[in-house]
Amino acid sequence: MNINDILAGKPLKGLPSGHYICGRFVPGENATMMESFDPGRGEAFAQFTNGSATDVDTAVESARSAFLGIWRKTAASERAQVLLQAARLIREHAECLAIVETLDCGKPLNESLGDIRGAARAFEYYAGACDKLQGDTFPLPRGYLGYSTYEPVGVTAHVIPWNFPISTTARSLAPALAAGCTVVAKPAEQTPLTALMLAELLSKAGLPNGVCNVVTGTGADVGAPLVAHPDVDQVTFTGSVPTGQSVMRAAADNVTRVVLELGGKSPVVVLNDCDWDRSIDGVLGAIFENAGQVCSAGSRLVIERGIHDRFVEELVTRTKAMTIGHGLRDPQFGPVNSAAQLEKVAGFIDRARSRGAEVLTGGKVTSDPETGKGWFYEPTIIADRPSDDELVQEEIFGPVLTVQIAEDPAHALALANDSKYGLVAGIYTQDVSNALAMARDIDAGQIFINEYFAGGIEVPFGGNKLSGFGREKGLEGLKSYCKVKSVAAWID
Ligand code: NAI
Ligand code: MG
Repeated sequence: MNINDILAGKPLKGLPSGHYICGRFVPGENATMMESFDPGRGEAFAQFTNGSATDVDTAVESARSAFLGIWRKTAASERAQVLLQAARLIREHAECLAIVETLDCGKPLNESLGDIRGAARAFEYYAGACDKLQGDTFPLPRGYLGYSTYEPVGVTAHVIPWNFPISTTARSLAPALAAGCTVVAKPAEQTPLTALMLAELLSKAGLPNGVCNVVTGTGADVGAPLVAHPDVDQVTFTGSVPTGQSVMRAAADNVTRVVLELGGKSPVVVLNDCDWDRSIDGVLGAIFENAGQVCSAGSRLVIERGIHDRFVEELVTRTKAMTIGHGLRDPQFGPVNSAAQLEKVAGFIDRARSRGAEVLTGGKVTSDPETGKGWFYEPTIIADRPSDDELVQEEIFGPVLTVQIAEDPAHALALANDSKYGLVAGIYTQDVSNALAMARDIDAGQIFINEYFAGGIEVPFGGNKLSGFGREKGLEGLKSYCKVKSVAAWID
């Protein structure tokens, strides 16, 4: 794939088409097609299938029979080999996957490459975990034996959002497959392509037919029947709070297990004694990666008054200097994912202006300076807002950083926790006691100290409060796909 040809509008060849069910691409029951858009140009560049409840049934049947017939009986060490080979193939195809990811979701090419490496890491990590999934023994009185085993939960459904298409798919598929579960994944209708490519690579890596199935289409036509399906044993959902709530309601009818990862409004706390350069870089990366469309984006800067003026001034200068453009030209800052998302972000800022908010930089819809096209919103910083302001409380899911001034570390902690969300939080201070006390007292699933987004697949991830429940990544993520069975025996 030649990037200049693609930017010149030459159509991409060899993109996947159809659903991926039982080891091959199939057209689907009624084969209605939808368009997938390149946000960097705001134009359609590919087509994909909008599935139906019948397609979901076929995929779930395929996953059930692969679970019963093959995958749960496959030795853990053999499952590990398949996952490891999948990681190798992902790395081998990294450039092609990254180009398609950038075209489909907009993010700069380097970020896509990072996501592809992250996807490979997920398969490597869980490959290593397959054969270490050990149970316990229990100290019963003499004459008894008690032990537990981890069994795979069965058929698992994975509903994927559009902001990190391949890495979210990988972080939930890899542990499910490692545990011995089979999969039906539904990528977002804005970004269906890399999940299909990943499913094909998994087959090439030796995954038996039917173990991983992908059905594309809308939330209403495919997502809803999938999460309500009586033969699905677990649903992992990443996305918005209202959709997460409806997934949970649908799952309740069948008492299906759910893991919900529902975003946040995460604070980055910067204290007077911070390491200046690390903090500036950290705050900018926390909000402007993927144009702020990150569930764990650091969208609130909670900063001590002593350094506020100079710190915010430097943030504004650095933000103004960021390069903007189509993701394939690998700028520092790319488009938002859709026209709808652009409108949503603009709405937040328009309303904030009418409440008297001060826009320090950004605050406008823009376009790719090379072509005048695309769905871009300028990287935006808003001056100090009160805690009850919409910009402080609501997830914008766009490139908007809202400042909150703290009088001291205790006030910073109170501001950090004053949220209905609790996904992650960042802390920048050189006082280790302050950092650790704040890490203890902030109500969030993951805390980053002196490096926002520190960590990797090894570290459990997930939310508190409205950010959801259940944990992905790490060994906790593997256990999400297991049922514990206890056995107690009278021996003699
Ligand atoms: P969404 O939560 O509706 O979509 C996420 C996934 O759920 C997509 O695959 C979608 O097709 C599927 N889905 C939609 N309705 C469904 C249903 N009834 N049953 C099962 N699956 C369903 O999010 P949307 O509409 O794309 O974005 C709206 C807002 O959600 C964004 O502006 C952002 O604030 C938030 N969001 C948060 C994400 C996160 O990572 N926390 C990811 C994506 C969106
Ligand atoms: Mg797209």
